[in-house]
Amino acid sequence: MRIAIDGPAASGKGTLARNLAHHYHLKHLDTGLLYRALGYLAINRGIALDDAPALAMLAREIDLATMDHEALRQDAIAHAASCVSQYGEVRAALRDYQREFAKNASQTHGGAILDGRDIGTVILPDADIKFFIIADLESRAHRRHEDLLESHPDLDFQTVLADMQRRDARDQGRTAAPLKAAADAITINTSNRASHETLAYAIDCITTHQERARP
Ligand code: CDP
Repeated sequence: MRIAIDGPAASGKGTLARNLAHHYHLKHLDTGLLYRALGYLAINRGIALDDAPALAMLAREIDLATMDHEALRQDAIAHAASCVSQYGEVRAALRDYQREFAKNASQTHGGAILDGRDIGTVILPDADIKFFIIADLESRAHRRHEDLLESHPDLDFQTVLADMQRRDARDQGRTAAPLKAAADAITINTSNRASHETLAYAIDCITTHQERARP
């Protein structure tokens, strides 16, 4: 079973992906971490965030196992990720990593869950089931603000909201694999849903899908 989950920042896609992975014992890849890792490495090595050929080469070196995932969570790194992710050659360099992950996980764990921006449209267009997770901007900014307050107690809400709006616009407006729902994705709005309700709804959808697919 290969599950594709896409959606904008702080929509709840990562939480749903982790919960589904736990429920079905599937391997999970948070593909945003790849773009964050690339942004982080580029900054640390002095590579410009618009130098697409150099970024594409750097992308092939990424090894998430060796990276400090806490450092990747910072808002500045999310911004860098959104800059480097605009380039087709960067995305192509990371595409094989993601497809290889899904293929290996299907062999070892019977399936994979990938969450990101273009999983249902580009990376796994033939995924068994696709979800597109949305929530209103205010709710998403509140969630992200709360998460970031732990490490940045002075961070104000308006800054988080404005950063998120800018990143949404960039992710939706780029020409290379823009953030959008696949035609066959199931959209879930998490604005007024607790994470366990979103999980229960997604499991219902998967069960229905499996029953329909059974000969
Ligand atoms: O956690 P959050 O949803 O805020 O962001 P993320 O999933 O870690 O992704 C950070 C940035 O990476 C996004 O704003 C996108 O620009 C980029 N990204 C992408 O282009 N394609 C993906 N499959 C995943 C992330």
